[in-house]
Amino acid sequence: MLNTDNIIRNFPILTRVINGKKLVYLDNAATSQKPFSVVEAISSYYLNNNANVHRGVHTLSDESTTIFETSKIKIAKFFGAKNNELIFVRNTTEAINGVAYGWGEQNINSDDVILVSILDHHSNIVVWQELCKRKKARLIFVGITSDGKFDVNDFDAKLKKFAGKIKLVVFPHVSNALGSTIDLKIIVKKVRATEKVRVVEKTLRSKNIVSKSSGSKSDFKFDSKIRILVDGAQSAPHMKINFDNLDVDFFAFSGHKMLGPMGIGGLLVREELLITNEMRPWLFGGGMIAEVHESHTIFNDNLSERFVAGTPDVASVAGLAVACEYLENLGMENVLIHDHGLVQYALSELEKNKNVEIVGPKDETRTGSVSFIFKGVHAHDVAQVLDSEGIAVRSGHHCTMPLHTSQKWIATTRASFQVYNSKADIDALTDGLKKVAKIFL
Ligand code: ALA
Repeated sequence: MLNTDNIIRNFPILTRVINGKKLVYLDNAATSQKPFSVVEAISSYYLNNNANVHRGVHTLSDESTTIFETSKIKIAKFFGAKNNELIFVRNTTEAINGVAYGWGEQNINSDDVILVSILDHHSNIVVWQELCKRKKARLIFVGITSDGKFDVNDFDAKLKKFAGKIKLVVFPHVSNALGSTIDLKIIVKKVRATEKVRVVEKTLRSKNIVSKSSGSKSDFKFDSKIRILVDGAQSAPHMKINFDNLDVDFFAFSGHKMLGPMGIGGLLVREELLITNEMRPWLFGGGMIAEVHESHTIFNDNLSERFVAGTPDVASVAGLAVACEYLENLGMENVLIHDHGLVQYALSELEKNKNVEIVGPKDETRTGSVSFIFKGVHAHDVAQVLDSEGIAVRSGHHCTMPLHTSQKWIATTRASFQVYNSKADIDALTDGLKKVAKIFL
């Protein structure tokens, strides 16, 4: 486990007293706290270097551009991505919208299928519902197992059932509501194997080896490539992401959940999709162009700049780079071990409470959070009593209404962790739950 006594010193907010009690912050899946070094990077930028990037020849503009570019290199490296593959956005939601507008608008057609998981956050559902509405495409949900894991058998069945129609597969790397971690290798392998079958079938059909009448018309138009989008909002704060080794097409993340500032996040896009223009800019304006004429515009050849329309949030990019450095210094392997230690301790302590029903996986595949139902007490009441003890947790449906509805859960309470949390915080939570029982039962 990490040395949290040292880490806590870097997070001034954690010394706050809430309702007369020392703050126990367990709402990290919603947003993490920021170390002093991140706040300092932001204020130092505004106090010393502020000027617009890429536009001026004066010294401050040059400094600002250097801060922006060097920070970008650091962040891309942190995610194991090429510099060109990182597009800055405000957060995961904006990244997913970017895929819908920059890729989906030109690649999704009527009758195409997008596979989504019932574990998905609203931002990875609503965006696709809207795209499907515009394109007359279909959104098909993959279910979960009885212990709240992504149902690989159901995924297999849907891959087969909709073979030839699926254009995009989206899912969360880690569920924000249940902490269920999806094994990317397994999913990617299955998707790519499906593609191969389709390529062979297409070739046989084109050579008239398989009768053309045996398939529907749309089979023949089928582009064998299935694109994969991973919502990494809840995995990036806890584990090493090596984008270039994942063989996924898109990976979305938020800076503010990984010790960085709010308002900055990233969309990682496989470079080939950018080079071939399969993924196009979805915001247009200055900065991203090579030439603008009355009749048309030629976009910047430099992939890294083609997606930067308008003035970027340089200060937040600088802050995010420092957050990445902070995590890197701890070592992402250690960060994950720390998190899994806390999750397992929380599960074992909560299980001792007969009023608590834990939802979601209980094994080592659970990352980042523990969610539960306190029998007979609404989650908001649980959270309010905990707040009176200085403990911050999240309650409700956690932006996963389809998941909650499918499981007939009205609301759940979630405790989620970061590098500064310790077993003592979980002890405070279990003590706080005794007060809930005293008041309500
Ligand atoms: N998606 C964030 C959460 O799970 C806000 O709390």
